[in-house]
Amino acid sequence: MEISKLKIVIFEDLENIRSEADCGAFHAKYLGKAGAITEAMQSLRNLAAEERAKVGAEINIIKRNVEAGFFNIQKTIQEAEINRKLMADTLVDVTIPDLNKEVGSLHPITRVTREVVEIFSSMGFIVAEGNEIVTEFENFESVNVPKHHPARDMQDTFWLSNGMVLKTHTSALQNILLKKHGPVFSAVFPGRCYRNENLDASHEMAFFQVEGMMVGEDISIANLIYFLKQTLSQVLDRDLDVRLRPGYFPFTEPGFEIDISCAFCDDGCSVCKRTKWIEFGGCGMIHPTVLEMGDVDPKKYQGFAFGLGLTRLAMMKYGVNDVRVFNSGKIDALSSIK
Ligand code: DAH
Repeated sequence: MEISKLKIVIFEDLENIRSEADCGAFHAKYLGKAGAITEAMQSLRNLAAEERAKVGAEINIIKRNVEAGFFNIQKTIQEAEINRKLMADTLVDVTIPDLNKEVGSLHPITRVTREVVEIFSSMGFIVAEGNEIVTEFENFESVNVPKHHPARDMQDTFWLSNGMVLKTHTSALQNILLKKHGPVFSAVFPGRCYRNENLDASHEMAFFQVEGMMVGEDISIANLIYFLKQTLSQVLDRDLDVRLRPGYFPFTEPGFEIDISCAFCDDGCSVCKRTKWIEFGGCGMIHPTVLEMGDVDPKKYQGFAFGLGLTRLAMMKYGVNDVRVFNSGKIDALSSIK
């Protein structure tokens, strides 16, 4: 092809380069080993010396211009390509919350615990916390259950190899609180308790209780009934009745079983086993020996104590009929409990 024509075609092609693939094709077609410009250079040798110098100079100028133009365009296209990839990778703002994410919720036991604790706290009770691993003294002796006392068999205890126990009831904190806050105080303390039970729909080996104590002068069971009725009515959102039946606990004298009127029926159902009452825990006047061991003088002071099943309360509040769901770790099941 004539040099002048070749020049026109090359510059037309140059203007049509749009992509890296176009760059590769253009380079091969004109500038590569078998490219048209390279070939034109090689064909110079067929020309006479004078002509060769003239055409050679012309081709050299074209070659330089084409190369300059080509490398410029190639650079622009490569930069645009890099920028495109970077943009595609860029996170817009890593601090923007992902609104599509599911939000976590509190465990039903946590919710009911907080509610109970807040109500007692608003009535002036201190809110205390205890350990899950306690001494034999705290769990038993300090609440009037000496070694070999038959009441130890009432609770199937998990013993640790160091002689300590997983607390079987929140009463294990009574002695600590008597010593710390006595002789005049009121306190509640929620906590996880453990008993070696066979699991079924109403028995768990890890469950929650809330313990309450009020110690001072002139404290009576009438006070206790008032506090229980207030709190349970508020948590279960209805005006319920509380009934005490005589019950035996080594740490109370007298002791009572606490029943509340059934939430599910008026005249007997399967939940209350046709009795219209549901058992909710135990209570009583604190045994003089327990006060004494807590350095409180039983001749001058007395108090009530109670232990309520928080897990059972959560079951009633949320209409859960299988206790095992609480420790199941099944997020779907737990978050559907409203
Ligand atoms: N600790 C008892 C239990 O786990 C419940 C209980 C009964 C607690 C009577 C008390 C009480 O404070 O006075 O079964």
